[in-house]
Amino acid sequence: MMLAQTILTLLADGEFQSGPALGKATGCSRTAVWKAIQSLQNTGLEIYCVRGKGYRLAQPVELLNRDRILAALDSGTRQAVQQLDVYHEIHSTNARLLEVARQENTSGYVCIAECQHMGRGRRGRQWVSPLGGNLYLSLLWRFHAGATSLGGLSLAIAVAVVRALRDNGLASAQLKWPNDILLDGHKLAGILLELAGEVAGPCAVVMGVGLNIRAPAAEMSVVDQPWTDLESALKKTVSRNELTASLLCHLVHAVTDFERQGLTSFMDEWAQWDALAGNEIILDLPTGPVCGVARGVDESGALLLARNGELQRHHSGEVSVRLSAKRESLLGACGAEP
Ligand code: BTN
Repeated sequence: MMLAQTILTLLADGEFQSGPALGKATGCSRTAVWKAIQSLQNTGLEIYCVRGKGYRLAQPVELLNRDRILAALDSGTRQAVQQLDVYHEIHSTNARLLEVARQENTSGYVCIAECQHMGRGRRGRQWVSPLGGNLYLSLLWRFHAGATSLGGLSLAIAVAVVRALRDNGLASAQLKWPNDILLDGHKLAGILLELAGEVAGPCAVVMGVGLNIRAPAAEMSVVDQPWTDLESALKKTVSRNELTASLLCHLVHAVTDFERQGLTSFMDEWAQWDALAGNEIILDLPTGPVCGVARGVDESGALLLARNGELQRHHSGEVSVRLSAKRESLLGACGAEP
């Protein structure tokens, strides 16, 4: 275990620990302890340093614990999860599992981390991944039917995330096509699917979920869209290990269902939690922006857009969606008459 990780474990309960006590517990000098404290602060943790008392976390942290997560899985999920790796820090849980997919013929491999240095978001964006209480989880799964059968998978995963949030007390999360999880228009979670292997034959998919549970405001200030976190919404502390287990159960059930019958068993919930349906939206296509009224999704996962008296289907990929804040400016952006 690295020094910073060991010190975080010692501070996790939120009680004061003196510098000498931390030095003694870790077998390191006070300077090394101080440097490790600074590195924890730099990755997002708020740590108080009080002369004569030592160091204390601003808030206790429930660190991710492999055994606790495994113990909380239902038996089907427990069987499906072949491997669960918990990292203190990592470049990206998705990138890690893409490496695994290239090296091993495994499925049901899970990777979670306390923080990511190069968290990946959709469309080449960064996913800001500070230490201190969020969740960064990836699941590697092998699909026998090949990539062409996977249209809509990201929507199924999004529904699974909302199911888990509802099981954990949050009833008002919504879905923004193709797979953003929103709360009152603020981003609560994001999903990134990445493919490893052949498009034609059996393929491995890495499904990454970033969920804001307790997001440190200072580190999140670089996020370029409105965001929120679960603890602010619920106004209480969340058990990250229980939530992770619950999310994993829903993810595994969702991929299993999806393999059997595509999006069929997800359609009703999508419609119920759809943040866009009935709203004027703008789609940024490679060919330029397109305006219309969102009319839900079809069984292939395509967005239905009512436009010029017809219903168009748009598949995910290079398109993005923004809720129209001002109708006039949207129509202006599309070059259409208001
Ligand atoms: C988005 O842009 O909305 C998708 C964000 C996905 C972030 C998650 S965090 C766990 C996994 N590892 C990554 O590097 N990205 C995904």
